[in-house]
Amino acid sequence: MIKIENLSKHFGELIAVDGLSIEIPRGEFFAFLGPNAAGKTTTIKLLTGLLKPTSGGVSICGYDIQKDYVKAKALISYIPDFPFLYDKLTGREFLDFIVQLYPNNRKRQTEELMKELLFVFGLEKYKDHLLEYYSHGMRQKLVFAASLLHDPNVMIIDEPMVGLDPHSAKVVKDILKNKSREGVTIFLSTHTLSVAEELSDRIGIIDKGKLMAIGTLDSLKSSFDIKGKLEDVFLRITEEE
Ligand SMILES: Nc1ncnc2c1ncn2[C@@H]1O[C@H](COP(=O)(O)OP(=O)(O)OP(=O)(O)O)[C@@H](O)[C@H]1O
Ligand SMILES: [Mg+2]
Repeated sequence: MIKIENLSKHFGELIAVDGLSIEIPRGEFFAFLGPNAAGKTTTIKLLTGLLKPTSGGVSICGYDIQKDYVKAKALISYIPDFPFLYDKLTGREFLDFIVQLYPNNRKRQTEELMKELLFVFGLEKYKDHLLEYYSHGMRQKLVFAASLLHDPNVMIIDEPMVGLDPHSAKVVKDILKNKSREGVTIFLSTHTLSVAEELSDRIGIIDKGKLMAIGTLDSLKSSFDIKGKLEDVFLRITEEE
């Protein structure tokens, strides 16, 4: 569903992503782990077509994200690490705006889905408040709700748990689990190792732009002969020389 082929991104002298190749089959929950500045967000921006690669490429369900941008993008829901929201809209108006970006949505169904999502994320009470008064976590949850309005085939999510309280984090995790069960392909970058441990089918560890290890939790632990937690694998791989 997601094919990353020999993908690189240079910013001047700096190589942020260095020859990354990963194939993610339909329905897989893939966790992308790495320390700060490893190249996770840059990779995600390349996956969503927001950045142009220096070399290599990405296709989503066979559509090249650069050449077939519109078709590829229609399959994706992207939840950025720092979402951009229009502060002068209310929560409800923002969701309406997102719905209009996807004209194929059926009105009645979307209306019901929107109500359900506002309820699930605990935002019903605030739907008529301006976004400028939303807290960080509320904004995060609203963006999650918006991302689910058009029934995505692929969800690409950058650090979803940052700034969420335990209850909200659980709501988001449960939603992701459900989406994964429904067959949605998920690519999620996170520092929250417990999230990767709990949710993902497969984990890729990136450091200094390079894929250092990839596999299931068990296969990663056994190849590094580690009996403990994912954190021990992560620290072993990303230790500073
Ligand atoms: N537009 C840009 N111009 C120049 N350098 C950039 C740009 N975007 C990212 N970088 C650099 O690329 C490297 C990778 O950054 P990136 O944001 O992808 O890391 P990350 O793994 O998402 O880190 P974090 O965990 O802190 O979010 C960093 O050294 C960063 O400074
Ligand atoms: Mg990042």
